[in-house]
Amino acid sequence: MHIIKSAKALNSYLNTIREGDSKVTIGFIPTMGALHQGHASLIDESVKNNTFTFCSIFVNPTQFGEATDLEKYPRPIERDIKLLVEHGCSVLFLPALEDVYPKNYIHKEFDLNNLDHKIEGESRPGHFQGVSNVISRFFDIIEPTNAYFGQKDFQQTAVVRRLIEKCKYKTALKIVPIKREPHGLAMSSRNVRLSDKGRKNAAFIYKSLYQLREDTPKLGLKESVSKAKQFINAQKGARVDYLVAVNSKTLEEVDQINDAESIAVLTVVEYEGVRLLDNIILK
Ligand code: PAJ
Repeated sequence: MHIIKSAKALNSYLNTIREGDSKVTIGFIPTMGALHQGHASLIDESVKNNTFTFCSIFVNPTQFGEATDLEKYPRPIERDIKLLVEHGCSVLFLPALEDVYPKNYIHKEFDLNNLDHKIEGESRPGHFQGVSNVISRFFDIIEPTNAYFGQKDFQQTAVVRRLIEKCKYKTALKIVPIKREPHGLAMSSRNVRLSDKGRKNAAFIYKSLYQLREDTPKLGLKESVSKAKQFINAQKGARVDYLVAVNSKTLEEVDQINDAESIAVLTVVEYEGVRLLDNIILK
């Protein structure tokens, strides 16, 4: 695996692999490191379907609210490199801050059809604009054929779909299903902050979403959502931050299963002081 640390070096590498071969495809997986099997599933998907797989590790300052969260973000680079090599990644792009955001860089405000202000955006103002800025920089530099994102961050996938459409990127968005721990908790770099017992118990989040999907034909969507909320809030130490059924594309809240063509339920549960994200696709 090549480790490339500057946009300029990446550019000349891209030129050599693209030169004279129009069939070369590049799969790209943007990450912030602290890689786990969830990230690995994105890499595997790309390796299977592309000539080259590029992964970036960049802890993007523009998507963090609190400076302390940014500083505290784990950076186990040696372990990350090992995982990438094991999964057949071709290139690790490990840029410095100035490569992504040069001194004269002007932070952009993208028209995201309000997707950035809803749900997760309400408690994290500016977060999805920060994500959009970094993704557009990477897409400009790499021009990937396919870009891989996890369903785990459902709202992020809706934002990237909009960004691609708005900026007319030629990159195809590929969404990879949520990778879960054996007990059912969605894998996340935040899970290490849970106690061992909490990590196993937190499977109630996933169970409540699956139960909701089972309940919907009998109870209706609204009733099933409210039952799932009650179930989670009844677990010791757990509090639902949000649990909403939405139109998968617009993220508008829906009340009935016939209200949209595709519907997902998105949730954040605070448990042992950690915000745990999860979701399920209903249709
Ligand atoms: P990060 O949290 O490192 O996640 C990188 C990618 O891995 C995202 O697309 C995320 O949805 C996916 N992922 C994380 N956990 C997963 C799981 N359990 N199953 C499947 N996929 C999973 O998301 C970001 O970084 C950043 O916002 C980024 C897109 C890199 C922009 O800075």
